[in-house]
Amino acid sequence: MQRSYLPFRRSIPISRFHRSINSVSTAAKCTPRPDPFALVAPQLAGIRDEFIHLLGSAHPGLDDIAKYYFLRPSKQLRPLLVLLFSQATNGLGKHWPAKRAASGQARPSDRVKDLDRPLSRPDVLNDWNPRIPDKTTAFSPSFSLHPLEDHSSNSQASSFDPLNSTPSLVSPSIILPTQERLAQIVEMVHAASLLHDDVIDESPLRRGTASAPEAFGNKLSVLGGNFILGRASTALARLGDPEATELIASVIANLVEGEILQMQDVKSPEKDTLASSPVVNNAWTIYLQKTYMKTASLMAKGVRAAVVLGGCTDGEVYKEVAYAYGRNLGIAFQLVDDILDYESADDALGKPGGADLQLGLTTGPALYAWEEYPELGPLIHRKFNQQGDVELARELVRKSSGVQRTRDLALAYANQAREVLKPLPDSDAKAALGELTERVIKRKS
Ligand code: FPP
Ligand code: MG
Repeated sequence: MQRSYLPFRRSIPISRFHRSINSVSTAAKCTPRPDPFALVAPQLAGIRDEFIHLLGSAHPGLDDIAKYYFLRPSKQLRPLLVLLFSQATNGLGKHWPAKRAASGQARPSDRVKDLDRPLSRPDVLNDWNPRIPDKTTAFSPSFSLHPLEDHSSNSQASSFDPLNSTPSLVSPSIILPTQERLAQIVEMVHAASLLHDDVIDESPLRRGTASAPEAFGNKLSVLGGNFILGRASTALARLGDPEATELIASVIANLVEGEILQMQDVKSPEKDTLASSPVVNNAWTIYLQKTYMKTASLMAKGVRAAVVLGGCTDGEVYKEVAYAYGRNLGIAFQLVDDILDYESADDALGKPGGADLQLGLTTGPALYAWEEYPELGPLIHRKFNQQGDVELARELVRKSSGVQRTRDLALAYANQAREVLKPLPDSDAKAALGELTERVIKRKS
């Protein structure tokens, strides 16, 4: 008998998923949408250049490893989401006029400079960055007391302009310097997590070339990841927004929780204790929770933080739209990633087919296949660690409808992401966010 595991069925009825699956394809036929990457191409290029600046270190080994994953082409999906959501909501929030004034749009360079200005004295921070020698210092054995400095020029101006407070999208669209910096920060957090992930997964390759552990060893990869997180945290503090700081800090905790959850044994799908206990051990629920933690959390909280930096407050719908979009898109993205792991047997992509099985990981396709082939159960429980397990599991998944059902599920999440955009006013950025929900499903790498 085929049991149908409908993850999150309590909150999102599967009928709505199916309706949304249909409407994704209909929408694709009717509405031409802008290329999301083209819409913010200059900002994405600027962000890429700036990484080198933010990650400078006088220690050659650390400098090389910290920049390693930034020097090769990347999708930049997370920065893209932050930039598009900024464009799609700037002007709408109650505090937009104040945020815009504080960002120094009249003299943009002033505010951009502020984002590199330490909030504490350079000799207190001891965070030497050779790229910004005038603002940072290295450790010095001697330390002298300085007179108290006035940092009030760092605090955000409170020039709220009531005459300019009509909630409509700014035109032409603007992305605040703080939002661009946030886009960099989310990519830095992502890169740090990949450095650690490649140690855990013992991956020899990433995006077709040597992974950081392969090139530099495990110790430097872990330390390099920590260094990037440190610099990202510094940059985050300088945004001067406690809510955005809290959101991104919690993402870092989620990433670790997701990785730990992924290491846990897979429980039998029959053990659905959701109703009786806050401790969930249903295989599907754990899988989706892990998927949220390791992938969707950064997208959801990253775009929510972008909207916060644009002055949207509680009681307005925009923060909720951003979070719901990022959450659904992120889960769809990871589900497709898990499908690609079965479909790609391409070493050039750095992912030999079935790499997840080799790591002992049971993802969507295998969980669905388990429903059709109960003999997969023992293999899943022993994490495919006996000879022939990986090959047999791959074969059973191939014979099952697991990949197709995972794709349907990804499509349903992508469609949810598109649905939640509805409260936003029409704009190119909103259309581009809609377009992304389709690209995430169609992607081949
Ligand atoms: C890639 O997934 C990995 C992640 C999305 C998150 C990894 C998180 C950690 C290692 C926790 C530590 C986090 C920080 C911020 C230090 P994947 O292995 O499925 O994809 P891949 O094929 O690209 O490796
Ligand atoms: Mg990995």
